[in-house]
Amino acid sequence: MTKKRRFMTLNRHIQEGERMHPEATGELSELLHQLGLAAKAISMEVNKAGLVDILGFTGDENVHGEQVKKLDMFAHDILIRAMDHGGHFCVMASEEEENIIHIPKKHRIGKYVLLFDPLDGSSNIDANVSIGTIFSIYKRVTPHGDPGTLEDCLQAGNQQVAAGYIIYGSSTMMVYTAGHGVHGFTLDPQFGEFLLSHEDIRTPDKGRIYSINEGNYLHWRQGLKNYIKYLQSDEFATKPYKARYIGSMVADVHRNLLYGGLFIYPADKRNPQGKLRLQYECNPMAFIVEQAGGLASTGFGRILDIKPEELHQKSPIYLGSKEDVLLVEKFLKEAEDDKHD
Ligand code: AHG
Ligand code: MN
Ligand code: MN
Repeated sequence: MTKKRRFMTLNRHIQEGERMHPEATGELSELLHQLGLAAKAISMEVNKAGLVDILGFTGDENVHGEQVKKLDMFAHDILIRAMDHGGHFCVMASEEEENIIHIPKKHRIGKYVLLFDPLDGSSNIDANVSIGTIFSIYKRVTPHGDPGTLEDCLQAGNQQVAAGYIIYGSSTMMVYTAGHGVHGFTLDPQFGEFLLSHEDIRTPDKGRIYSINEGNYLHWRQGLKNYIKYLQSDEFATKPYKARYIGSMVADVHRNLLYGGLFIYPADKRNPQGKLRLQYECNPMAFIVEQAGGLASTGFGRILDIKPEELHQKSPIYLGSKEDVLLVEKFLKEAEDDKHD
């Protein structure tokens, strides 16, 4: 007999999860629900990307000096408009805005903090390649009732209460964790609901995929060069690892989460802190991957234990299957030790 699958919408799942915690106020459920609504709006717009005149550059540069596409700003605006009035947040911050985003005075101020990368992998939009949205939620550390401050946004990733991403791929999926495993929901476009499709995602302890921009090879540290050559060699296994790199962190990490493997955006000679932003990209993805049984490292320590000093701080990242992360850390350490011999 075929097993009947439960009709589990995102909202029902969040509510049932919260019911297991009698101390919960329902607020986290409510704000995750609102994030789901924003995700649907962004997904609809992303799906129309080739049809309406929203492609091309705005001509503006974001705080990192990169060109911003219109869809980035659309996603940024939708997230703020969907999330600022619910009374849940005291402050927000976006990869696309230099300073923290205050909650307008007319709205109630809440106890949570929202950090987000509104559109990740945006250089892929014009080529119809998967992109995503990443979010990270903390509880405030400043006094309740007052507007939130920078201090609320500069918490270590190990303080996150929830994190997730939405991937706009062959289908739209929302994957989130509230600290009790990782769950994935696929958007049924006709029905207009996110339905549970990937319950309690566990990433394999070891994968066969590595994802890194190998064009930067000459600028890498020696330990990383050694490691990648090792993965490609037959001394390592009967078959070498597969190289897969989309250039959208959300898509690369999502694939590796399901299949196993290692995603790397390292520090190199030109970018001593790597490229990816700790608060909007590294921490939320690290929380998700750890919750799925993987690891997230700077190469020399746990991502989630970094205490951020700046809003747009960057970090190198080695993220994915446990054994793969431990092995690359070993290669990095050995090469550093050799330097000092
Ligand atoms: P964003 O579009 O939010 O600026 O992020 C792009 C990031 C990330 O998604 C991806 O992993 C990385 O940039 C790719 O960088 P390279 O082109 O240097 O490989
Ligand atoms: Mn990004
Ligand atoms: Mn972005």
